[in-house]
Amino acid sequence: MQEIKFYKGESIPLELHKVRVVQKLHLVPIERRLEALYEAGFNTFRLNTKDVFLDMLTDSGTNAMSDNQVSSMLHADDAYAGSQSFYRVEKAVQDVLGKKHYLPVHQGRAAENIISKAYVRKGNVVPMNYHFTTAMAHITEYGGKIAELLYDEAYVIDSSHPFKGNMNLEKLEEVIKLHGAKQIPFIRMEASTNLIGGQPFSIQNLKDVRAIADKYDIMLVLDASLLGENAYLVKQREEEYKESSLGEIIKTMTGLADLVYFSARKLSSSRGGGIATDKLEIYRELEALVPLFEGFLTYGGMSVREMEAMAVGLYETLDETVISQSPTFIKYLVERLDKNGLPVIKPAGVLGVHADAMQICEHIPQKEYPAGALAAALFLISGIRGMERGSISNQRDEYGNETYADMELLRLAVPRRVFTLSQIKYVEDRMTWLYENRHLIGGLRFVYEPPVLRFFMGGLEPVNDWPQKLVEKFKEDFGESL
Ligand code: F0G
Repeated sequence: MQEIKFYKGESIPLELHKVRVVQKLHLVPIERRLEALYEAGFNTFRLNTKDVFLDMLTDSGTNAMSDNQVSSMLHADDAYAGSQSFYRVEKAVQDVLGKKHYLPVHQGRAAENIISKAYVRKGNVVPMNYHFTTAMAHITEYGGKIAELLYDEAYVIDSSHPFKGNMNLEKLEEVIKLHGAKQIPFIRMEASTNLIGGQPFSIQNLKDVRAIADKYDIMLVLDASLLGENAYLVKQREEEYKESSLGEIIKTMTGLADLVYFSARKLSSSRGGGIATDKLEIYRELEALVPLFEGFLTYGGMSVREMEAMAVGLYETLDETVISQSPTFIKYLVERLDKNGLPVIKPAGVLGVHADAMQICEHIPQKEYPAGALAAALFLISGIRGMERGSISNQRDEYGNETYADMELLRLAVPRRVFTLSQIKYVEDRMTWLYENRHLIGGLRFVYEPPVLRFFMGGLEPVNDWPQKLVEKFKEDFGESL
């Protein structure tokens, strides 16, 4: 995509869309935000959006839809079986992902459930570049374990490595030799590796993983939820693909995997999900599980309206003006925060900006959840809702012990085409103020801890009255400002 230069040399991202439908936001007073935080158990997942100003929790199902997506929903074909909407999605999967067979599921984790149910047995090990919470929960639910095989560079916050999502090839061979190929139902590669800061892998790395999978006759599974963005960064950062189209890059990546699954809430800015493969034996194995867990094979638990939006959204994934919007806004915010001294994951990745709570809240021990505390503090002083991606998001081990995360991150998602640049500047301003007052942030402890995926609905409380102190300082500096 051609760069648009500003006469005065400023480097800011320019929106290549116009706003046609808007939703009013509410920036409620800090006193109400404090109350809301207590009501939500200091867990940003549990906030009511009437109390939220900028919702940066996730990009999942929150990307702005295009006019074409919305209008496509009107010609959805309601039918239990054989809906034309299904065939339009199937065609889009074939055209965009280059896979013949498509199984619909209601969202990404439903695909993970079906794949794990079909292939994971007790004692199995699934090597992956890095886990995603729901993928790991399903694999362990069916008795498997995961092996995370990134290079050390992936955990370095202040890095310039272009492909921190790459799988460590030496470690992959070691793990296969250690457990034996028979114990490994599949290797999982996650595009734009979510939990390490939306960091891509290179096509070269994927090719190398494929070669190892072939050598040991192991299936290769690609989590394509953030594939469009990974393709965009390949085009930016991998010399060999500079001149390739996004479509060519996407098909090169999916072509290397035996099975591709995705959350359409991310990939196509709609809802839903899917599993795609060229191999009839894989399709046949999974086919029976879709009606059992999801719905009939031509809707898989999705509304036909969403399926129409998904078909259009898949084609729009090939449009660089669509795919580049979020990464360029993220890059802008990363550069601004970095300039203000804030430790954020670099290089800028996709999905959102990831602030390093381990450094920002270095005075908070990991057992008091620094990333959760930072997420709560940011909401309190700004109305911005981010997501904890640290130890609260980790699950306990099989003996019930706390497992501390490799990184304690506050993720501020930048869903596609949702925020304006002035809103992004507000994020910069409040994050910078909070950073300068970081000593006032204190720890959290659980008061209610669900046994599975505890981060979603868990309840916490502050270890002392730090939220009140933070409010006092805010009032001192901002007066009556919201
Ligand atoms: N895989 C990846 C890489 C994801 O990021 C997600 C969801 C899923 C699978 C599960 O898909 O939500 O449709 O069931 N990520 C969301 C997030 C929840 O906020 O990052 P799902």
